[in-house]
Amino acid sequence: MRILLLNGPNLGTLGRREPEIYGTVTLEEIVESARAHALELGSLLEAFQSNHEGALIDRLEQLDYDAVICNFGALSHTSYALHDALRGSGRPAVEVHISDVNAREPWRRVSATAAATAHQVIGRGWRGYLDAIDWLLAST
Ligand code: DQA
Repeated sequence: MRILLLNGPNLGTLGRREPEIYGTVTLEEIVESARAHALELGSLLEAFQSNHEGALIDRLEQLDYDAVICNFGALSHTSYALHDALRGSGRPAVEVHISDVNAREPWRRVSATAAATAHQVIGRGWRGYLDAIDWLLAST
């Protein structure tokens, strides 16, 4: 399976961004772990991060993948455009949130994109990305 791992705004600064909430592991390290984990399970993983909604949609439109793992950051709570892009891809998707969004500010409890995903992994720290890979490979 070819997995596309998408990260949205402010996730490029993982490691130094609010480490008490998001931990000290960088996005580069997470991507390497996720890639190695996928490879062990016979899958290829490609990662893309952008702070721009349109760039994330452009990447989704390329359709060179079989499944998506996405953490769109704050855009998860607001972006119907990303919801529609996920739906439009026709590929199964899993939404990841590193932090427990349900235990933070009320606006973080709402996801505009979750309805376009088959599964959500919330509050498991960076290892949530590995859980998302496991879920995809077990369920699709
Ligand atoms: C996040 C949670 C969002 O509310 C926040 O805007 C992020 C990161 C998470 O991974 O916990 O940027 O998606």
